[in-house]
Amino acid sequence: MTDINLLQPATESNASSPDIVWHEHAVNRESREKLHGHQGAVIWFTGLSGSGKSSVAGALEQALHQLEVSTYLLDGDNVRHGLSRDLGFSDDDRIENIRRVGEVAKLMQDAGLLVLTAFISPHRHERQMVRELLPEGRFIEVFVDTPLAVCEQRDPKGLYKKARAGEIKNFTGISSVYESPEQPEIHLNGEQLVTNLVAQMLDVLRHHAIIKP
Ligand code: ADX
Repeated sequence: MTDINLLQPATESNASSPDIVWHEHAVNRESREKLHGHQGAVIWFTGLSGSGKSSVAGALEQALHQLEVSTYLLDGDNVRHGLSRDLGFSDDDRIENIRRVGEVAKLMQDAGLLVLTAFISPHRHERQMVRELLPEGRFIEVFVDTPLAVCEQRDPKGLYKKARAGEIKNFTGISSVYESPEQPEIHLNGEQLVTNLVAQMLDVLRHHAIIKP
């Protein structure tokens, strides 16, 4: 076992041993971005289960794909079938889930991709940690703001019903905390139509020069 603090972002200086030396490669982020014709960045959706994160992220990815932007969508439910299949929903497991996804998203944006992530990511501290992992301006936090009552009414997977019945423990919004972003780059009203939300997002991405005008 090492005593490495896993909550620290990976940098040149915090490997598990001093014998592990950071290696700079000849092909760098700038050259890869040139090849893609746009910047790498992470668009980080956060919100309650059923808020619409996956739907908006999926529709935005389709729109970006049509604009010939190289994207990759990391989705909570899918990642929990693989990379995070060993994790549950305790606070510690959620923190580890977001740490892993943050590191993967960092690598993908370094590869020059526009990465979209759709995780509840309920804690401000972990979202801030991912922000700090990335180069300045490359983390775009998107709050899909949908009232709990609306998410519960939608209940697409029947999970709120189970949580209310006590069949699922630590359910976000019911028996586990959700900390809303205080200053997200993008604040979406999750009750609007997905097409409207995608149009708003494209405007902001153009404004931030993440995609071309
Ligand atoms: S996170 O908190 O670690 O960011 P993540 O986005 O990966 O969560 O997974 C959330 C999805 O797992 C929800 O959309 C829901 O389908 C499912 N899920 C199962 N159990 C829970 C739970 N206790 N709390 C929240 N979501 C749960």
